[in-house]
Amino acid sequence: MLTADDIATYHRDGLLFVPGMFTPPEAEALRSAFERDAKVPGDHRITEDNDTDVRAIYASHLRQPEFTSLTRSARLLGSAQQLLDRPLYVYQLKTNAKPAFAGDRWAWHQDFLAWRLADNIARPHLVNAGVFLDDVTEFNGPVTFVPGSHSVGLIRSDRNDAARSEQHLDPDDIALTPAELAACVERGGMVSPKGPAGSVVFFHPEIVHGSAANMAPYPRRLAIITYNDIANPPRPLGEPRPEYLASRSVTPLTVEDEALIGGRP
Ligand code: SIN
Ligand code: MN
Repeated sequence: MLTADDIATYHRDGLLFVPGMFTPPEAEALRSAFERDAKVPGDHRITEDNDTDVRAIYASHLRQPEFTSLTRSARLLGSAQQLLDRPLYVYQLKTNAKPAFAGDRWAWHQDFLAWRLADNIARPHLVNAGVFLDDVTEFNGPVTFVPGSHSVGLIRSDRNDAARSEQHLDPDDIALTPAELAACVERGGMVSPKGPAGSVVFFHPEIVHGSAANMAPYPRRLAIITYNDIANPPRPLGEPRPEYLASRSVTPLTVEDEALIGGRP
């Protein structure tokens, strides 16, 4: 469970890093589940511009029991409940794969803009839990955050005309301008949490973040579980987005058995 200091750090900085929250065998089980899931064809599988390498896979918790257990584990769900102090459900789960040599950058952005534009979510009452499936170093494209940038709210309000993606909104579609980013960094600096597989970074939906390409000979798979307040669901103005992008079930989660993360059949 998080301490009062942890919770205060999250609210002050917009992020909280917990190295080694999950064990090496648990991280290994999640990697295996990810690789299994990467073979499942469908729209939930997004490729890099070369159309071959996997860029991101959505909603593995709907197909792979290890990910389902992860989302309901006391460590992840319990911590998220402490940070938001509300009943929560999984609004979205994705794994950004950042493959060796091929993983492209993720532009500087604030997540909440994407979710407001795509799903008409009213309030930033969400929390991201980024679970490292691989060791993250300075070499394989760690996520870089601007501490404190969540406290100014949304910096831009629209998406670019020339959009890279349709339904899932790639950060390039809502990227900050160099001037906007420079002003944020002048105030808050930059941090990029690094640590062993199994580490977790909790981050606020309005914190400015992005990441560089992966030029290293090993991948950087990062599972991001986004919990939302059950009182803050999507309010689609038109056709709701598919289930794999924005869950339609807002049933509050309760903490469950974590044994499956270890890969027990
Ligand atoms: C990344 O996977 O490097 C980007 C993460 C994010 O935008 O949330
Ligand atoms: Mn993001």
